[in-house]
Amino acid sequence: MIIDREEEIKLIGEGIRRNAKILIRGLRGVGKTTLLKYFCDRCGGLYINCQRILHPEHLLLIMGIREIVSDAYQALERFFYVVNRQKKLLAMDEFTDLLRNFGTYKPYRGRGGTNAVAMHLRALLEESKIPILFSTTSLKTLHDVAGEYSKPLARSFDVIITLYPLSFENTIKLIDLICSERKISCSEKAKIRIAELTGGNPSYIKAIMLRLLEKNVDVRHIDEVFMRELNEGYFNALFEGLRRELSIGEIIVLYVISRGYTRFSEIEKRARGVNLSQVLNTLIKRGLIRRTKLDKEAHYVFVDKTMAMWFALEPYPGLEKITYNTARVIHAAFESLVRELFMHVNKSIEIKDVTGRNLTILPIKKVYYYKGKLGEIDMIARTDAGTIVAEIYFGEKADLDKLKQLEKNIAIAETLGENVTVALLISYFGFKDELIESVEKSLAKDIIYLVDKNLLRTIAKAVGYRNI
Ligand SMILES: Nc1ncnc2c1ncn2[C@@H]1O[C@H](COP(=O)(O)OP(=O)(O)OP(=O)(O)O)[C@@H](O)[C@H]1O
Ligand SMILES: [Mg+2]
Repeated sequence: MIIDREEEIKLIGEGIRRNAKILIRGLRGVGKTTLLKYFCDRCGGLYINCQRILHPEHLLLIMGIREIVSDAYQALERFFYVVNRQKKLLAMDEFTDLLRNFGTYKPYRGRGGTNAVAMHLRALLEESKIPILFSTTSLKTLHDVAGEYSKPLARSFDVIITLYPLSFENTIKLIDLICSERKISCSEKAKIRIAELTGGNPSYIKAIMLRLLEKNVDVRHIDEVFMRELNEGYFNALFEGLRRELSIGEIIVLYVISRGYTRFSEIEKRARGVNLSQVLNTLIKRGLIRRTKLDKEAHYVFVDKTMAMWFALEPYPGLEKITYNTARVIHAAFESLVRELFMHVNKSIEIKDVTGRNLTILPIKKVYYYKGKLGEIDMIARTDAGTIVAEIYFGEKADLDKLKQLEKNIAIAETLGENVTVALLISYFGFKDELIESVEKSLAKDIIYLVDKNLLRTIAKAVGYRNI
């Protein structure tokens, strides 16, 4: 059962019909293998897990050819000769591993390695008339062989699909599905917590859900299981493995960002002696962080929020410890995702709110979260024309209380000296009728706008942020 991939399935299906070479890239566990296997099942294709092709002979064995070969070039030639004649779909999962592995064999070894295999593959693809699906998790290797115009595989793919985690809505669908399979029941709050902690990554969702032992699951159970897996279980093993692949400089920078320092200057202060620009660039190429510019200064945030939490809770000499709850609020909570989305707004965006009112969101200069003597505000975002305050909610349809909270936020922000020109009530699952009716009676009605998941998605699309 595949959830939330209609668009990708359509694109891939069309590509296969045109015999295209299709690349699916994405971080661990987002569902690449699932898509490859889905199409191989449907079209009678040949699925190859390139992580298992450790020797040139292994590639031939897949085609039923038993031969003694140690020449990787010949094995690749032979393999493509046979698959091209079979005229069916070929799917090469983690194909960058094949490039790397074969790069260590004759005749590539010492003559360009990975890059030389990539050059050979380009020639083979140019001649091949069958549809081929490729996938990779190694975004850095992919960048090295195809990232720039001059690289061997730069123009070899007709279709390139970046696979993101599931949207929150579909995350909850997947959770419901697993609940009914496992005959357990999760409270609404527990489901939301899973969605936040996993960022919608299907393998993370499964990892948590398969470890739930109770029949009736509440937030507390989710937190317990998650913390345990982060400290010593599945997530710990996963992220420790990933950390081992990184350079010292990259690791240091990830620790610093995990503590909530996102601005270049803040990171620089705490990662002394590191060639920061270069390290940030490789982290971006690896797909681990993303950059956004706010008022001309670059900010850096984790792509994978679960990984961010793991780094945040690991001790690091010289950086303060933070608690599980703080780490969750900084990185994983729905509110933090919305703040991050607004950090990406670098041009004017025109939207219509839920009640049909026009709203222009101007480029954002600064985004913050206020917690202090006066209370708490989920988001304060400054623009050249004034300040946006928001109340952010992810649960069910927002009720009157949320409107009252928003009105309070406006007052607090003004006391803080902000010139509030827009007040957003952001509720993922929409609004109760009573709330929509009451906005009319509010003293702040001229500046209040109601934003639901569809509008968040419109904004996300406009700024190139992931589907929320
Ligand atoms: N769209 C989806 N709907 C439901 N389940 C999914 C979906 N995508 C992935 N899964 C499930 O999530 C798990 C991880 O998926 P998959 O192995 O396809 O990811 P991947 O990107 O290939 O991961 P890796 O980087 O580890 O190879 C699997 O158990 C799969 O069944
Ligand atoms: Mg996979």
